[in-house]
Amino acid sequence: MRWDFVVVTVVGLVLSFAETSSGGITSSYVHITQGDHKGNGVIVSWVTTDEPGSDTVLYWSETSGVRLLAEGFHVRYKYYNYTSGYIHHCTIKNLEFDTRYNYVVGIGNTTRKFWFETPPKSGPDVPYTFGLIGDLGQTYDSNRTLTSYESNPAKGKTVLYVGDLSYADHYPDHNNVRWDTWGRFTERSVAYQPWIWSAGNHEVDWAPQLGEPKPFKPFTHRYHTPYKASNSTSPLWYSIKRASAYVIVLSTYSALGKYTPQNFWLEEELPKVDRNETPWLIVVMHGPMYNSYVSHYMEGETMRALHEKLLVQYKVDIVFAGHVHAYERSEPVSNIAYNITNKECTPKIDQTAPVYITIGDGGNIEGLAKNMTEPQPNYSAFREASFGHGILKIKNMTHAHWSWYRNQEVNSVTADSAWLFNRYHISSKESSVVAS
Ligand SMILES: *[C@@H]1O[C@H](CO)[C@@H](O)[C@H](O)[C@H]1NC(C)=O
Ligand SMILES: *[C@@H]1O[C@H](CO)[C@@H](O)[C@H](O)[C@H]1NC(C)=O
Ligand SMILES: *[C@@H]1O[C@H](CO)[C@@H](O)[C@H](O)[C@H]1NC(C)=O
Ligand SMILES: *[C@@H]1O[C@H](CO)[C@@H](O)[C@H](O)[C@H]1NC(C)=O
Ligand SMILES: *[C@@H]1O[C@H](CO)[C@@H](O)[C@H](O)[C@H]1NC(C)=O
Ligand SMILES: *[C@@H]1O[C@H](CO)[C@@H](O)[C@H](O)[C@H]1NC(C)=O
Ligand SMILES: *[C@@H]1O[C@H](CO)[C@@H](O)[C@H](O)[C@H]1NC(C)=O
Ligand SMILES: *[C@@H]1O[C@H](CO)[C@@H](O)[C@H](O)[C@H]1NC(C)=O
Ligand SMILES: [Fe+2]
Repeated sequence: MRWDFVVVTVVGLVLSFAETSSGGITSSYVHITQGDHKGNGVIVSWVTTDEPGSDTVLYWSETSGVRLLAEGFHVRYKYYNYTSGYIHHCTIKNLEFDTRYNYVVGIGNTTRKFWFETPPKSGPDVPYTFGLIGDLGQTYDSNRTLTSYESNPAKGKTVLYVGDLSYADHYPDHNNVRWDTWGRFTERSVAYQPWIWSAGNHEVDWAPQLGEPKPFKPFTHRYHTPYKASNSTSPLWYSIKRASAYVIVLSTYSALGKYTPQNFWLEEELPKVDRNETPWLIVVMHGPMYNSYVSHYMEGETMRALHEKLLVQYKVDIVFAGHVHAYERSEPVSNIAYNITNKECTPKIDQTAPVYITIGDGGNIEGLAKNMTEPQPNYSAFREASFGHGILKIKNMTHAHWSWYRNQEVNSVTADSAWLFNRYHISSKESSVVAS
């Protein structure tokens, strides 16, 4: 039965449909991300290879069971001699908070059914658990990282993805088939929980020699973000609220200097955050500002020099980045006193400044970044070159627990962990990070 008639969310329409299927010709793979600013919208995206099929998503909450439809659209793109499948994007809005939904994409015998859970409505003491994955790629180690994340009893509900997805650009002519295989590989997680996307250098896909001078072409066609909801003018930088967290995504590889759209947006964005509604202010980007590995050493200096002052001023709690294929956690640190002439160039441990975490250890084709600068700088609290993932467990307005898991350990042994005390709500008496 077909249900791809044109309706935009028909309330109360009950449909019978083929619920079972093993995939079939039209549906190939699915991914979801947050679809609005406040957390009760979802963007469902899926790629069909042979025919466009339907742009409609059928969904219903487990509590009401009422079948609803949301209408999307599809795009295609060409890259050198590759032509993409039909990439469908459908935003579902005004969902109930804290509710499990089933959803179905595809038509006829090729429908596929998945589910997701919306987050609780934002509020100061709402607990929530994020997974942190970066630089994943699609190797044996990538698969171990994803398996380890999925089987972690800490149960991440949403992934904050710190950039570098498929590494398609590592293959001849940026072979975009690798974007498809990455989509299929990650589906087993990202069809059921949103991954919040930030773009890395491997998303740029800038190849004028192939007639592809437009940066971020495959990424922006495949992975949509709810950027308009935060008044951003680019899908590469935006913000979302999710439970007690306010997440700001930045683009390391877009213009970010003083008079650029990204910087204008960030300057307007930070004062808007209501820390009594969303106490935890988290920044996600690809290139780290603090990195004591030899790999990509000092690459983040431009961004640090331009944006660190704002991050300190607005009491950002944590800055997550990837790019360096290893793990590192900083002390709460600030280098904003430095102004070239005053020689105060050593970063200072500052309990009111952000903690910087590099989690680019997903396990891609380029391997681990093993070389470290020596001696370990004082701002670097912990570093280790192993593949893994992280979990951020927000407990309440004041306390969050961070842990890092190496792939080589089964049963999710914590390899590094720390209590993080909220920068904004911190009691001046206690230290804001305690390694545990
Ligand atoms: C694209 O071109 C490369 C050679 O540059 C070739 O190996 C590949 O088969 C071509 N792919 C398609 C889909 O035509
Ligand atoms: C769906 O499957 C049924 C039973 O296998 C078959 O009879 C029917 O032709 C199929 N419909 C389509 C549209 O493929
Ligand atoms: C990836 O991991 C899954 C789950 O652990 C496993 O079933 C699958 O065989 C792995 N795939 C490869 C190619 O190693
Ligand atoms: C976006 O801008 C509009 C109009 O200025 C404003 O009403 C809205 O609150 C803004 N949204 C966010 C998330 O800042
Ligand atoms: C640089 O820092 C020094 C010492 O903190 C200060 O006296 C000086 O005014 C600063 N220069 C500028 C241009 O801000
Ligand atoms: C890492 O260190 C080893 C040993 O000092 C050296 O041979 C190698 O070139 C270094 N690699 C990089 C990327 O700096
Ligand atoms: C780093 O910490 C050590 C031990 O506390 C101290 O002796 C040293 O001076 C510090 N280095 C810098 C550059 O601050
Ligand atoms: C917040 O969570 C921490 C850690 O679980 C706990 O020790 C603390 O008592 C909680 N604070 C409040 C006000 O419940
Ligand atoms: Fe990178």
